[in-house]
Amino acid sequence: MICFLFFTYVLFWLTLSTIKQINDLNKPEISHQTRFRSNRTLYFVINQLFQLQINLVLIDPQILQHLFIHRLPFDDIHRTFITFAIVEESLQPLISSLHDLKLSMKTSETNSRNRKHLVDHIFIKHHRLTVHVAVLHKYSSYYRIHVNHQSLPKNVHLPFGDKLRAIDYFETELHEYLFYYPRNVSHFLWLYDSSEFIHCNRRLASRMKKKYNIHESMSQLSLIVKPMVHIGQSLNQLQKHYWIAGGTLLGWYRHCGLIPYTGDADFGLFYEEYDESIRSHFLGNPVTHIWAALGLVNDSLEFRLSSGRYVFDLFWTYREGNNARWYGYQAQRSKYRRSLPLFSKVCSGDLFGYRFSVPCSPIEYLDHEYGKNNWTVPLQKDYGWINMKYHSMWNDISWMYAVRLYSPEGHLRSDELAISWVAKRFNYTYASVPSFLNVLPNETVTLPPLKSEFVQVKSQKVEEQKPVEKEEQRQEEEEEEPEGEGKENENEGQEPNEEEQEEDKNAEKPDTEAQEEKQNEEERNQNEPEEEDVDE
Ligand SMILES: *[C@@H]1O[C@H](CO)[C@@H](O)[C@H](O)[C@H]1NC(C)=O
Ligand SMILES: *[C@@H]1O[C@H](CO)[C@@H](O)[C@H](O)[C@H]1NC(C)=O
Ligand SMILES: *[C@@H]1O[C@H](CO)[C@@H](O)[C@H](O)[C@H]1NC(C)=O
Ligand SMILES: *[C@@H]1O[C@H](CO)[C@@H](O)[C@H](O)[C@H]1NC(C)=O
Ligand SMILES: *[C@@H]1O[C@H](CO)[C@@H](O)[C@H](O)[C@H]1NC(C)=O
Ligand SMILES: *[C@@H]1O[C@H](CO)[C@@H](O)[C@H](O)[C@H]1NC(C)=O
Repeated sequence: MICFLFFTYVLFWLTLSTIKQINDLNKPEISHQTRFRSNRTLYFVINQLFQLQINLVLIDPQILQHLFIHRLPFDDIHRTFITFAIVEESLQPLISSLHDLKLSMKTSETNSRNRKHLVDHIFIKHHRLTVHVAVLHKYSSYYRIHVNHQSLPKNVHLPFGDKLRAIDYFETELHEYLFYYPRNVSHFLWLYDSSEFIHCNRRLASRMKKKYNIHESMSQLSLIVKPMVHIGQSLNQLQKHYWIAGGTLLGWYRHCGLIPYTGDADFGLFYEEYDESIRSHFLGNPVTHIWAALGLVNDSLEFRLSSGRYVFDLFWTYREGNNARWYGYQAQRSKYRRSLPLFSKVCSGDLFGYRFSVPCSPIEYLDHEYGKNNWTVPLQKDYGWINMKYHSMWNDISWMYAVRLYSPEGHLRSDELAISWVAKRFNYTYASVPSFLNVLPNETVTLPPLKSEFVQVKSQKVEEQKPVEKEEQRQEEEEEEPEGEGKENENEGQEPNEEEQEEDKNAEKPDTEAQEEKQNEEERNQNEPEEEDVDE
């Protein structure tokens, strides 16, 4: 009897307390409330902050993987140190809330003249748990997460705060346990892998301004940078790693901007990640459309994109052995190769407030391209393009596939320009070229008859060698951007149609400016003796 009474009493008490709880928390999360009744849990902290309208975003890569990739339950998380993020605007409200809730907190701050908020990280200690909150500092297209200076137990490795990192804006969703998380977790994790942030060289950049009087031309900026942002974001969306390359990389690192006489922008890509998605994306693209694909997929592939005003080059880089990569450059029918250090990971850099991927060791990369320390001063007139080696000529069959031109609407061109581009350096009859322009490289072809002049005068073959020598010589006269002129050269002497003329004019304009700029710059250089060497 006593037992029964006691049992009834307990039952009554339990029912009462449940009703009370339902009344207290008229919220959808009630179903979890029982499981998280203990105020010692992570859930307790998150919940309290959520009630105060502080939106924590889970950014801890391991936990995200656990919950959303492996789809394991929240209750299985046994980590005592978990990283969340908040946007800068929530920083003050969070700090006051933590005071109100009497939760203990430590912060990491960085002194900086030009930042409103100095707090970069907050560590909320709650029983055995530490909730790490990283502050997302906002830039035009991304958040920066600063390095943590608060001392932590030895066994704790912070996924954010370990290094300076940058991560593109991302959309979030609300989890049933009242924290936010990136809507596309796998993409967030992909971005995280290239989030390490590398600074450009401010010292060199200000030297360029002061000593060489090289300034950015503002009119260039939006015309080049906007399409560049579009290209970078497209490649991110397709999850293809890229890095800004060539003169664009030099501009970023040495000028913290663009080289003033830049007429185009270069991007490098890993051949291992090649698939047709990139070509498809840029065919007929309204912002930057692909207008030429040069080379073969497995050999010297380069996509030339156009914004109508500027040219943007995507170069695929191919692995060679265990410590190098190479990428191609096509001039007329010759193949050149440039070598690069081997790297498998890219980092993040800032260009005018936007995040771009950059090589993680820009100095090593630039040394490779321009010669050790040669790039730290504006290049001299007699600069030899050291990182460019003649490789071979496209053979007859490959050549037919090595040039593909596309209309702004994304159609393969077999108009006069497209035909003459191939036919001009082709020893087979002109008339049959159009049909090859529509043939896929995987289909077998038989060569058409030789051009009549070859049949008649065999010795004329030698003539083909001449432009190559010229090309090499020309390249030696070049400064930083052999591509710029190479492009024009390829169109030279051909009869461009209207559309192409436009393309040409556009390509010429920046280059003419470039020449003038270079001239002025060189004059300045001659008047000014060398200063001390710049060390990094
Ligand atoms: C947690 O709950 C215990 C008892 O359930 C209570 O004594 C304590 O004050 C609570 N702590 C907080 C931070 O609410
Ligand atoms: C996540 O992002 C990747 C890369 O942009 C995309 O391919 C994928 O479809 C996205 N997944 C979802 C569920 O939206
Ligand atoms: C590219 O593929 C073709 C056909 O499979 C092959 O003959 C050629 O050697 C390859 N080129 C390179 C650079 O691997
Ligand atoms: C630097 O450039 C000069 C002039 O082009 C060249 O002779 C020299 O070999 C280059 N240095 C290195 C280390 O590549
Ligand atoms: C060639 O490639 C295209 C698309 O890449 C494919 O549709 C076609 O079947 C291939 N042809 C042969 C003969 O393999
Ligand atoms: C075609 O031209 C290339 C170079 O332009 C040359 O190497 C090749 O031998 C020529 N082929 C024939 C069949 O004449």
